[in-house]
Amino acid sequence: MWACPLCFVLNFVLSDIIIIIIYELPRRNRGMRIGIANDHAALEMKNEVIEYLKDKGIEVINYGTDEKVSCNYPEYGERVGRAVVSGEVDLGILICGTGVGISLAANKVKGVRAVVCSEPYSARLSRQHNNTNILAFGARVVGIELAKMIIDEWLAAEFMGGRHQTRVDMIMAIEQK
Ligand code: RB5
Repeated sequence: MWACPLCFVLNFVLSDIIIIIIYELPRRNRGMRIGIANDHAALEMKNEVIEYLKDKGIEVINYGTDEKVSCNYPEYGERVGRAVVSGEVDLGILICGTGVGISLAANKVKGVRAVVCSEPYSARLSRQHNNTNILAFGARVVGIELAKMIIDEWLAAEFMGGRHQTRVDMIMAIEQK
């Protein structure tokens, strides 16, 4: 099909360049984008968190629910999990009654590393050591001010790589078994 090896190589290089121009550059040039979702137990807190993030200049995409009627948290955990893994958003925040169910659901999506936190220390370490890409907490567990502190620590922290990269790679390899 390819008359010369150079044409073959050029085809790959050019398709990579096109992908970078169409998808990667717009992503790199925009600011942080966070996907957020909740169940019926956390609607009010979700709305407060959205306002808090927007005030910080962060773009927020709301994946629901925006109803107070009883709903099933796995649906919302999966939505944000898929948005994070596809790159639609950079990071995710999930809130249910405890943060447990919705994070369990998100963690079933390949590529997700969701953590439930009730205090800022674990939130920070979960980024530095575990490179978490979704933060979850419970509206029935933490108040809004503590939630803000947890979010701030989580967003400010950076993955440290090195030996932690090896361990995160091991976690992700479990998905392939
Ligand atoms: C809903 O009642 C509750 O089960 C849910 O919000 C969450 O806490 C589950 O883990």
